[in-house]
Amino acid sequence: MSIRTTGHGRRQSQLLVAFVLVVAACLTLTSCGSSGSGAAQLAETPPMGWNSWNHFGCSVTEADVKAAADAIVSVGLLADGYDYVDVDDCWQAPTRDRDGRLAADPTRFPHGMAALAAFVHSKGLRFGIYAAPGAETCAERYQGYPGQLGSLGHERQDAQTFASWGVDYLKYDWCGADRDGVGHEAAFAIMRAALDATGRPIVLSIHDKPEQPVPAWRRWVSQLSRTTPDIQDSWSSVISIVRSTLTVRDAASPGHWNDPDMLEIGNGGMTLDEERSHLALWAQLSAPLLIGCDLTTVSPQSLSILTGRRVIRVDQDRLGAPPAVLASSKHELVLLKPLSDGSSALTITNVSSRGATITVPVPSPRLGDTVTTQDLWTGVRGRAHGHLTVRLSAHATAIYRISH
Ligand code: GLA
Repeated sequence: MSIRTTGHGRRQSQLLVAFVLVVAACLTLTSCGSSGSGAAQLAETPPMGWNSWNHFGCSVTEADVKAAADAIVSVGLLADGYDYVDVDDCWQAPTRDRDGRLAADPTRFPHGMAALAAFVHSKGLRFGIYAAPGAETCAERYQGYPGQLGSLGHERQDAQTFASWGVDYLKYDWCGADRDGVGHEAAFAIMRAALDATGRPIVLSIHDKPEQPVPAWRRWVSQLSRTTPDIQDSWSSVISIVRSTLTVRDAASPGHWNDPDMLEIGNGGMTLDEERSHLALWAQLSAPLLIGCDLTTVSPQSLSILTGRRVIRVDQDRLGAPPAVLASSKHELVLLKPLSDGSSALTITNVSSRGATITVPVPSPRLGDTVTTQDLWTGVRGRAHGHLTVRLSAHATAIYRISH
């Protein structure tokens, strides 16, 4: 554990105590982080839902969040499994109240977060919120959002506030908190302990620095761990995030998922083939599927990608196994993910910016066996013997379920 020595002895011992408590709790479990604790039972499959940041950023309002919740229900996304509505950064009033509690921005969230959470819950959805472990949130540190609203020194109080509002999911974003004299594991562990102390099951999604090997403590304290810097609404961002996340794929398993960031599908920066690849590759990574567009204006084509049930099923497969990388070059990426029913999900991605014909060997239990294929975009079934050849336009992904 690295807690920077800054002379704040009392603060350091608080962090140390929190860390020791979490580790001690973890050591009493049969399998740390994968089963047994209240926290670990959360997110047994990757969370799905909507998050305000990618589209609305710091201008998000209560009305935007309510409209997203309404749309999730009315367009059928809830039936597909999208059940979190998460408000990202910039929901906060610029100062804490006189008791030190966080409050909602009175102009953009006039009815406050408890009322918003109640609205979200009334739709059969779960409610998420955003905070940071240092002195400032990312928007404050990097974008000039007013205030110093990080949870440093307020962790227990903030966790209690969130629980009292009915929060089900907390995104806890590093935002350069090392500058504030805290160590990574201690800062996240103190919030995990504070959330557990509320008695309310709350998913903890952390954004720490990308690191290899992935530190073991992340599994003990969080259900989700970001793997890369922020996604952009572009193919180059999507494919580079996939490649980076593949390097840490073994760190994910049920109860603790790699988080390659929220979806950009529907935000307009990618072709439909690229948007399909985005979903298929997130599914292969068992990534959280958090929609990041405006659901009141999303095109029917992007919506039909987001509701691709057969692909979502790959993402949500209970085995949560990492994919094997069968081929990776600047032209193609081929991934094979084992699924809980003994079948596998095969993706073939044309990474190049021209159409291409790609042939891949099809795995079978015995050399030369014929396998059953199902195209998970169209549902069309077929058979393959030895190999599979697909014609793919630029940046497109074919995704198949392969069974024997
Ligand atoms: C960081 C995160 C983003 C978003 C912003 C909010 O950049 O990575 O996902 O939460 O902060 O300020």
